[in-house]
Amino acid sequence: MAAAKKTGGLAGVTAGVTHLCTVGKEGAGLTYRGYDINDLAANATFEEVAYLLLHGKLPNQAELDAYVARIKANRGLPEQLKTVLEMVPAAAHPMDVMRTGVSFLGNIEPEGDFPDEGDVADRLLACLPSMLLYWHRFHADGERIDTETGDDSIAGHFLHLLHDAPPKELHRKSLDTTLILYAEHEFNASTFTARVITGTLSDMHSAVTGAIGALRGPLHGGANEAAMDLISLYDTPEEAVAGIHGKLASKDKIMGFGHRVYTTADPRNTINKKMAKALADDVGNTVIYPVSEAIEKVMWDEKKLFANADFFAANVYHFMGIPTYLFTPIFVCARITGWAAHIMEQRADNKLIRPTADYVGPPLQDWVVIEDRD
Ligand code: COA
Repeated sequence: MAAAKKTGGLAGVTAGVTHLCTVGKEGAGLTYRGYDINDLAANATFEEVAYLLLHGKLPNQAELDAYVARIKANRGLPEQLKTVLEMVPAAAHPMDVMRTGVSFLGNIEPEGDFPDEGDVADRLLACLPSMLLYWHRFHADGERIDTETGDDSIAGHFLHLLHDAPPKELHRKSLDTTLILYAEHEFNASTFTARVITGTLSDMHSAVTGAIGALRGPLHGGANEAAMDLISLYDTPEEAVAGIHGKLASKDKIMGFGHRVYTTADPRNTINKKMAKALADDVGNTVIYPVSEAIEKVMWDEKKLFANADFFAANVYHFMGIPTYLFTPIFVCARITGWAAHIMEQRADNKLIRPTADYVGPPLQDWVVIEDRD
């Protein structure tokens, strides 16, 4: 029993090796293939980061241009997939839409039809925003949108499809930065799910479908949506302080706070918080950001818990007019890069992932015929 408790949730257990990412390492913090997240957020585009994760190096200009063009050319949706998306109910959660969309794509564009596994990764990266927003606009506006836009960036494409107009640069750039921050995070729950599925020699669509299912929950990616719901409960910082004290007294989990690996801060939060402030000032909102800051302060003062990447990301998305229920699917549009890179890394040196458990059930028992049972 003691051994089972010690590794509850596999906390602190090293479950494999990776070349892709460090999380919370002394002197390194969050890095993607050795590059500091702060440098990437300040200088890179999401497409450069996607290339870095999937191809193992930063692209030169010609490679980046070709990559951007390739992603742009892969945004279209097959008619059969559009029909399926139209059939998914309007009331469905968009994470379920994405899970179904990727799974269905695995039927009509199976991995075996592609010359290279990297092609499937690029196809998913390109068409996940199209899939999500085709479904959203069909049900929200009754429109069958064209999912091919002239926008070079995935962030611009996403906002263009959502709002039916090219985005302002502040919004495009801010979304792009959050995609970089969400792109990769070592052996988190959804990535580990993808690696477990891949370890059985299954296909990429299955691994990504499973990963989406894992990301959906509020203890993982669903936290950005849950954080927005929480922030929206309060009209003033004072109300928020009182409300959070009440929730802590009733032992509620405060979504968007805490982390399994980071112990004192999430490096992504500093970047998200700065963007949230700039966007709040831009739209002249004087409630959401101060309420969020007040919640952050109570959580630190009372529990020494810090805001993770999801908390101020919720602010950022809200201020650019993204409906709350699309927040976690944005995480999917970013993390597909990390998932696909891990799937390829797992395949390159595959070993079936199959741990053991400490048995804590009843001892060996005698068989009882059905007539003699209680
Ligand atoms: N709100 C309130 N208390 C929290 C908390 C939160 N967000 N996160 C952790 N705690 C408390 C737990 O209640 C627990 O207290 P206890 O020891 O008195 O029982 C302690 O801190 C350890 O938390 P635990 O849930 O066991 O840690 P974990 O490593 O298993 O969980 C998370 C990590 C991320 C799942 C957890 O912090 C959490 O649920 N956060 C909210 C969801 C979230 O934001 N997820 C996105 C992560 S990027």
